[in-house]
Amino acid sequence: MGLNTPLTNQSVTATAPGKVILLGEHAVVYGRPAIVVPVWQTVATAQVQAGPPGGGCVLHAHDLGETIRLAESGDEQPLALVTRLALTQLGIQDEPDWRIDLRSTIPIAGGLGSGAAISTALVRAIFAQAGRPATPQAVSSIVYESERIYHGTPSGIDNTVVAYGAPIWFVRGQPPQVFVPAVPFTLVIADSGIYSPTKETVGDVRAAWQTETARYEALFDAVAALVHAARRALAAGDLLTLGLLMDENQEILAHLGVSSPPLERLIAAARAAGALGAKLSGGGRGGNVTCLVAEDRVAAVEAALLAAGAVRVVVTRVEPESD
Ligand code: MEV
Repeated sequence: MGLNTPLTNQSVTATAPGKVILLGEHAVVYGRPAIVVPVWQTVATAQVQAGPPGGGCVLHAHDLGETIRLAESGDEQPLALVTRLALTQLGIQDEPDWRIDLRSTIPIAGGLGSGAAISTALVRAIFAQAGRPATPQAVSSIVYESERIYHGTPSGIDNTVVAYGAPIWFVRGQPPQVFVPAVPFTLVIADSGIYSPTKETVGDVRAAWQTETARYEALFDAVAALVHAARRALAAGDLLTLGLLMDENQEILAHLGVSSPPLERLIAAARAAGALGAKLSGGGRGGNVTCLVAEDRVAAVEAALLAAGAVRVVVTRVEPESD
């Protein structure tokens, strides 16, 4: 279907969640599996509405303090690229006169998939404005292109979990598998407040892998074994084992060079307050740590994380029935 003009005049709003990697970051870039869940307590929102006639398509990225005029922005601008790809997929040839407002409660460069979420909300809102359904696969493949700008060599895990909005077993280049844990579990996610772009940590791991390939491949294999064991633990509802596996994953992440003293302090505080397991999540160095916590220890772990320097704590519950 070829469209030359947007179909509706009304304002539409779409959202997308943040994400947290339970196990497997970095190794996932090198073909090993990872387990990732959406975090609906932090969301990105995109609102599309008619703009002044002849004004073109203008994006207001409020959290970045940026105004992006589509006609003046090249494909190196991730949100302009995403907008253009979505319009092309919809068969909209002429630039529509749209005002697009983008807002997010997901910390930027914090390992929670803020870039993927804002792009996903944007694509969904554009499809909705054109009156067309947006499948998770279509959204994910458009957003992947913006991830290449944010991340350099992304595995595709962020755009996948954010587009599907469900817990995912992810292997690069394979169709994602939505998984259903046997029992609900609670994650306490603490923001170190330290800005750490994923592109940098992924680039550093790549440089180290290039000089010490055998060592890094062995570390990635060790991560893969933990991720497989975590899948079995989740299927059996064995949260004690899952927590221990997260701790072991954290040790390997430290060997990969992506942990940092502030993250280690948060992790130690969470464990001392009774977390079943704790590790960094996402690119590392800064950003967030994720802690697996039994329901009766959530308040204590939350308090311990704040006392240890966390700037914000988010609690999310992953339910067996979540789709
Ligand atoms: C980022 O959320 C996870 C990393 O493994 C990078 C990627 O998979 O693209 C660090």
